[in-house]
Amino acid sequence: MNKLVCFGAITVSLFLLSNTSFGAPVKGAESILLKAGSKGDVLFPHGIHQGVTVDCQPCHGLLPKESAIVGKMQTEGKLQKKEVMNMCRECHKELASKGERAGPTACAGCHEK
Ligand code: HEC
Ligand code: HEC
Ligand code: HEC
Repeated sequence: MNKLVCFGAITVSLFLLSNTSFGAPVKGAESILLKAGSKGDVLFPHGIHQGVTVDCQPCHGLLPKESAIVGKMQTEGKLQKKEVMNMCRECHKELASKGERAGPTACAGCHEK
């Protein structure tokens, strides 16, 4: 096996390992409703973000790949209120400032009210 083929095989294996558990994909829900107290829920389009940051970072560096984990970690004091929000907005701001496709930075772009 030459080096290029070998590298390719390792990359493919790592990709499969990181995305599957016993062969089933674990990408999570396409769309997730995030609670934001009095500010109104945020309907988060999870699926489209997986094309933006294919390795699932920076989000899952901050929180595990579990449903309803944001509220759980906030209750346990492991995440501050608006900590996830600031991470969301930072990326949108940074991409927008570079003139690239980005998500909303205005409150109403994410919050229902
Ligand atoms: C832009 C941020 C972001 C990216 C990128 C992201 N996720 Fe998530 N993911 C979240 C949030 C936020 C939650 C929901 C936490 C909650 O419900 O409290 C979540 C939840 C999940 C869950 C739990 C099940 C569910 O549907 O609620 C899985 C599994 C998951 N993500 C997998 C992935 C994988 C695999 C990738 C990369 C291919 C990825 N995510 C990329 C933010 C992200
Ligand atoms: C990119 C999406 C996004 C934008 C833009 C955004 N938010 Fe948020 N916000 C969230 C998410 C997701 C949460 C829930 C997670 C968290 O608390 O980090 C949240 C949580 C909050 C909370 C916490 C409520 C609570 O008590 O738990 C407040 C208050 C808030 N946002 C106000 C604002 C205001 C004011 C603006 C405009 C200046 C704004 N948000 C813009 C996504 C966003
Ligand atoms: C690493 C960068 C990054 C992070 C982190 C991120 N986003 Fe985004 N977001 C994007 C990009 C890029 C787009 C535009 C995608 C497109 O237009 O194809 C987007 C689009 C969106 C949209 C608009 C979708 C639409 O249909 O127009 C919403 C709402 C959104 N993001 C919410 C969030 C929330 C809530 C979080 C945090 C839980 C978050 N984003 C974290 C990069 C990011």
